[in-house]
Amino acid sequence: MARILITSAIPYINGIKHLGNLVGSQLPADLYARYMRARGHEVMFVCATDEHGTPAELAAAKAGKPVARYCAEMHDVQAEIARGFRLSFDHFGRSSSARNHALTQHFAGRLAENGYIAEVEERQVFSIDDNRFLPDRYIEGTCPNCGYDKARGDQCENCTKQLDPTDLINPRSAISGSTNLEVRTTKHLYLRQRALKDRIAAWIDSKTDWPVLTTSIAKKWLNDGEGLQDRGITRDLHWGVPVKKGDQPWPGMEGKVFYVWFDAPIEYIAATAEWADAHGLPEAAWRRWWRLDEGAQDVTYVQFMGKDNVPFHTLSFPATLMGSGEPWKLVDYIKSFNYLNYDGGQFSTSQGRGVFMDQALSILPADYWRWWLLSHAPETSDSEFTWENFQASVNKDLADVLGNLVSRVTKFARSKFGDTIPEGGTWGAREEALVADLTARLASYQTLMDQMEVRKSAAELRAIWVAGNEYLQAAAPWSVVKTDPAQAAAQIRLALNLIRIYALISQPFIPDAAATMLKALNTPATDWPTDLRAELQALPAGHPFEVPENLFRKITDEERADWQTRFAGLRK
Ligand code: MF3
Ligand code: ZN
Repeated sequence: MARILITSAIPYINGIKHLGNLVGSQLPADLYARYMRARGHEVMFVCATDEHGTPAELAAAKAGKPVARYCAEMHDVQAEIARGFRLSFDHFGRSSSARNHALTQHFAGRLAENGYIAEVEERQVFSIDDNRFLPDRYIEGTCPNCGYDKARGDQCENCTKQLDPTDLINPRSAISGSTNLEVRTTKHLYLRQRALKDRIAAWIDSKTDWPVLTTSIAKKWLNDGEGLQDRGITRDLHWGVPVKKGDQPWPGMEGKVFYVWFDAPIEYIAATAEWADAHGLPEAAWRRWWRLDEGAQDVTYVQFMGKDNVPFHTLSFPATLMGSGEPWKLVDYIKSFNYLNYDGGQFSTSQGRGVFMDQALSILPADYWRWWLLSHAPETSDSEFTWENFQASVNKDLADVLGNLVSRVTKFARSKFGDTIPEGGTWGAREEALVADLTARLASYQTLMDQMEVRKSAAELRAIWVAGNEYLQAAAPWSVVKTDPAQAAAQIRLALNLIRIYALISQPFIPDAAATMLKALNTPATDWPTDLRAELQALPAGHPFEVPENLFRKITDEERADWQTRFAGLRK
């Protein structure tokens, strides 16, 4: 039994995530966590909400709520939707937790002691009426390029020109509208990543099994242009982790907070500590996942994320951990994803384009989405969600192949043999061939799941379902029963056992349908099936079963057209 630590990139707090976000980290991480648990390994799967930074402050202001309350409410909303999608986190934490404050300040203190923090004087816009420094996007004014009067300090939305706040004509505070601004000198902390470059490069070079997408992005940031840059890790905001050296004040840094990308990955560790707290467990319970001197040398750590997150996980977060000089667990494998597009364009949170997680669940249960998203995961390239494709996959894979097999077998068994598994008959060449075929396919499915080949795993699982259908088609118990009822009984006994095996191995993809299948067979979720010959005889003659409700319904053309129209516009 291995110990596997799994993290999904933590979603920003500002608003409900769309299906592209879901398939880029949380959902494949859940697939892997469920699979590894089913294989009997000890799994710690954590995620959290990413609650700091300007976007959180702006979203709270837009909602007319204090930022702390906004984050608390949105965390609960995201947690509820995650449950709806059956994301099986051991803990869904919050980057604003006391644990993350303490750990973030701890790391900053250690980095400073080891000489990896530089204090840099910068000139920045201060708003006298707001009594605060203004980050670039809190400054508005007229664009020097196109004359648009709501250009932001970092960029003009109208002509897309990149700007410096000092370029703006008639600059004003986006918070109060005040023009009473001045440029002041302020101090910021920089993480001296350049000083860690050789260690990081050597570490990345040692990861020869990483996916190309992950390594190519990491190497680009390490080597392109001037190479790895030192990085500002503090901001002049009110909301965030206050800058401290461990639990000591940091002279000259009063009123500042750490940059959101500094504290966010540390939340992976903090979320594990929050998990221990929530279960009343001692410190050692979470430290054995993270500290190499306290048990984590046995842990395999896998991270899931979209490709835009890769630089932070291959360079910055490792720099924080290495620079601490303490024995923290570094990631062993990074599974990264391309983007999922929506019907000819991009999913967009800021524009409200696409299907959002709450909307998806209001249309169809989680398994439908889980199956489509995972079987079309954007692994080797970007992929696209279209309603036609969604309808076709659901109707074919889930309704025609799996759902139909389950309903045909249970209904036929009930009508011909009553409410227990029938006895009689023996296996012949056809059954032996099925065992051999399924054994080979199951081995290949396991290999693909071990390798986190999400799409290929889905394809192999579908092939396993198809093999069962083909067996039934060829065996044709509904004809055989007329001449040789014992033989038909043997075929149906095998088919009912096959449903149990399907439930066990499909559970990581479609957990609700798997639970329904097991319930119909009056049998609990057990260990992962290994010896298929034995597993196909596990439920004996006389064992009671029921006909389950239809597992999957088909999506009609009218529904598809209706949803297509409903989601064509932008969510407000
Ligand atoms: N919130 C970020 C995003 O959605 C991901 C943060 S991942 C972490 O892109 F490592 F910082 F936690
Ligand atoms: Zn402009």
